[in-house]
Amino acid sequence: MSVPTFTNFDFSPAPEQTKQRYQHLAAKFHAEFPNEAIQYYTRAPGRVNLMGDHIDYNLFSCLPMAIDFDLVAAVHANPESLEIALVNTDPKFTKQQFTLPEDGSVITIDDNNFNWSSYFRCALIVAHKYLLEKGRDASKPLVGMHVAFDGTVPTGGGLSSSAAFCVASTLAILKANGVDSISKADLTRITVVSEHYIGLNNGGLDQCSSVYGEDGMCLLVQFRPKLNGIPLKFPTLPDGEELKFIISNTLVESPKKLTAPVNYNLRVVEMGIASDLLAKKFNLSLPSESNINSGTLRGFMETYFVEVEKQSPWDGQDNVKGMKWLQELTDKCDEWFTTEEKVGFTTEEAAAALGLSVEEFTQKYLTKMEVRYDKLKLYQRAKHVFSESYRVLQCLHLLQTIENGDDFLREFGGVMNASQQSLDQLNGSSHPNCNRICEIALANGAYGTRVTGAGFGGSLVSITTAKKLPNLVNALVAEYYKKEYPNITDDELANALVDTKPAWGASVVAAAAVE
Ligand code: ATP
Ligand code: GLA
Ligand code: MG
Repeated sequence: MSVPTFTNFDFSPAPEQTKQRYQHLAAKFHAEFPNEAIQYYTRAPGRVNLMGDHIDYNLFSCLPMAIDFDLVAAVHANPESLEIALVNTDPKFTKQQFTLPEDGSVITIDDNNFNWSSYFRCALIVAHKYLLEKGRDASKPLVGMHVAFDGTVPTGGGLSSSAAFCVASTLAILKANGVDSISKADLTRITVVSEHYIGLNNGGLDQCSSVYGEDGMCLLVQFRPKLNGIPLKFPTLPDGEELKFIISNTLVESPKKLTAPVNYNLRVVEMGIASDLLAKKFNLSLPSESNINSGTLRGFMETYFVEVEKQSPWDGQDNVKGMKWLQELTDKCDEWFTTEEKVGFTTEEAAAALGLSVEEFTQKYLTKMEVRYDKLKLYQRAKHVFSESYRVLQCLHLLQTIENGDDFLREFGGVMNASQQSLDQLNGSSHPNCNRICEIALANGAYGTRVTGAGFGGSLVSITTAKKLPNLVNALVAEYYKKEYPNITDDELANALVDTKPAWGASVVAAAAVE
């Protein structure tokens, strides 16, 4: 399945309005680069994750949807030039310019000069590596590009503006360098690692959602047996009632790159150590599949049930078996960790539990990325991952079996609330403001509310009906936004509290569509 090229705006829920947005972007482009034609546009959406956070880098499936907020790039490529110039309709992203390496080498990223163009460099790296993989002459430089961007995905809000930026940019760069068609699988595979080049060790949730999104559908994002995004329908509600997904941004920004050592990357490290520790308890050896080259909790699950419990392997498709295994592991975490271990592990304690010296432990787990902690919460993280992965399969089961929309809302909402508990209590990735929003939402018409994406602030997603929406919105405005941010403007509010729809994934948009 290839990434599509759209020749009009029918893919958008509001084609005329979308066309005007592209015209506005074109005007920005022409103001900056007056003598150049826009050759094409690329776009990629943000995502909201409905279920399954902090489990993708453990290779467990998630349930997100691409949303109707995206990043659009207007592009002019010039094979005679090595210049990259990037402009943005948002004045906070000031013009950036740099030159591509003339000798055809892959560009590097200077961590001391980190800004929004660092994400474009990430895209240049993954696009270039893909071109080399396809046989491009290694001494031939990439072509110069002038690009204007317009993004509607709130930044640092847990809706993956960075993935939208990297996916749309990679698509733009590939097209500039002669790739007119790329499969969704390839575009996902290469962009999943794009942010790793700026030190963020994300899994594949965001990029897969941004590429595979389909209008009106959520997605089962799988990493085994292969990376895939499978579109799934929601049940219809009775009496023409409409299902609504409301996103409420806490406005507590969580810039992933800056907080990675104590938040996101620390979770990646803790879960990698937890996998190896569990494996050690049973003398198992796990494949090194994590972003720090340790085992993963999925790897532990598969090895444990086959080698210790002597069961047949799980193909990843049989939901009943997957749920049984994950439930068992969730319960067993309570048995497998002692009372002291449940408090957390110091570096010395974790090293001893793994039979390593502190030097060996540090070398193995703490050098790939910088992390800071008092205690490693290995029990909590493992239990979160097993129970959260169970909940994804539970949601999948609900989507596949429930026909009655009311039952769906109640049950799906219940699973979302259980997930929020786990994110807060076990994974430590909620935030007091997130918890406040949950309380208000649940008391005012949401069936379920949970932090979506990385968390530590960022956004929440609530599920409700169109009928209950006004009450929910009014309560959030009065009891959260006006209290926390008394000076909030109407525009800021409109951006913070949004009613989203599942939307199309990444695409090229022909320049002619805008004229
Ligand atoms: P999360 O990763 O929690 O889902 P996020 O992706 O919005 O949320 P970050 O990963 O911190 O947050 O990425 C935000 C950064 O991505 C911005 O600071 C900017 O550098 C880049 N970015 C995102 N959208 C745009 C845009 N429209 N124009 C320029 N840069 C952007
Ligand atoms: C971020 C990462 C994803 C995923 C989520 C949490 O959005 O980029 O890979 O780990 O956090 O589920
Ligand atoms: Mg991001």
